[in-house]
Amino acid sequence: MTAQELIREDIKEIISSIQKEAPKFEGQTVLISGGAGFLGSYIVSVFLELNKQFKKPCKVIAMDNFITGSKKNVINDVEKNLNFQFIEHDVRNPMPLNINADYLIHAAGLASPYYYRKFPLETIEVAVNGTKNFLEYARQKKIKSMLYFSSSEIYGDPNPNAIPTPETYWGNVSATGPRACYDESKRLGETLCATYHQLYNVPVKVVRPFNVYGPGMKVNDYRVIPTFMVKAIRGEALPVHDKGNQTRTFCYISDAIQGFLKILASDKNGEAFNVGTDDEEINMVSLANLVSQLSSKSVPVQLVSYPESYPAGEPQRRCPDISKIQNTLGYQPKVNLKTGLARTIAWYRDILEDDKTTFA
Ligand SMILES: NC(=O)c1ccc[n+]([C@@H]2O[C@H](COP(=O)([O-])OP(=O)(O)OC[C@H]3O[C@@H](n4cnc5c(N)ncnc54)[C@H](O)[C@@H]3O)[C@@H](O)[C@H]2O)c1
Repeated sequence: MTAQELIREDIKEIISSIQKEAPKFEGQTVLISGGAGFLGSYIVSVFLELNKQFKKPCKVIAMDNFITGSKKNVINDVEKNLNFQFIEHDVRNPMPLNINADYLIHAAGLASPYYYRKFPLETIEVAVNGTKNFLEYARQKKIKSMLYFSSSEIYGDPNPNAIPTPETYWGNVSATGPRACYDESKRLGETLCATYHQLYNVPVKVVRPFNVYGPGMKVNDYRVIPTFMVKAIRGEALPVHDKGNQTRTFCYISDAIQGFLKILASDKNGEAFNVGTDDEEINMVSLANLVSQLSSKSVPVQLVSYPESYPAGEPQRRCPDISKIQNTLGYQPKVNLKTGLARTIAWYRDILEDDKTTFA
């Protein structure tokens, strides 16, 4: 399958899993920040594809300042689709009020540890000022629903008895450490959402994604899966930080987007939801071995000390309790790790072989 076919298949899968929620978006205007990024550009594609089943199309407006996002992610959509508008805008600045949106998705952020170490102030400001600007807009325009992208990182390095981690866990986070610019600003973003909901009844929901991966992550994203994939395809050793016994659970993109849109379409205002998978918690050495097996090159796994470019103090374990979203919104992740990794490596192989590395 080609890179484009893989993504098309994911989009179809997402659409089939949100049929109950889809009618809510018919004829509506959806505004997405971070629309040139990994999650944002998938969400844009889902709405544009949904239009094929709508009598009255929804209008999709994406915003991005391209600090890490790729212009290629949005240009294709703009050229191909009359219901899509792209606005180059830094969401740390007030929102243009001449836009009339019904649904807001605030997905702009510096998601990769490499980039939030490089841009700590931008990371804080997009989560705090950016979120406040979205909430102000939501208050003034009386929107139908807003989704704020927080992170599983708000839990910090959880106490072992809080694994799997439920939404009720308060977190174990440093206020000043090398990861604080991300973790603490996402936390304050959540506090702003809770406050705007309490004071002004803004219909905002919070999502805490747990390590979403899949086709579409930039070649130079520097999160663990893109790093392993690109190195494996190039026949290079897979660098595993420290002893490699830190664990994560990985949620395939089509499962995650299903969860995000179910939350957006719900009436769970003022609430926060974990989205991820509670299956297959895996340590980084095992993940590297799995990627090595899936790449036809069987590359070695190499333990390395933490590089200077990587923020120290990473959580030792990360695994969500997803019973809240399962029980209240009918979310069910379906793609197992091996299948998801195989699809992702096929996507990278296609874009790298075609020498489309400028995708980065
Ligand atoms: N992918 C995950 O596993 C994951 C996990 C937890 C949280 N999140 C959160 O979800 C959101 C999307 O993550 P992603 O994986 O798509 O990241 P990404 O880096 O691929 O995309 C984020 C996009 O936001 C844009 N952006 C950053 N600052 C901006 C600003 N001030 N104004 C306008 N645009 C700006 C970037 O250019 C980029 O296109 C982020 O807020 C991230 O923190 C993602």
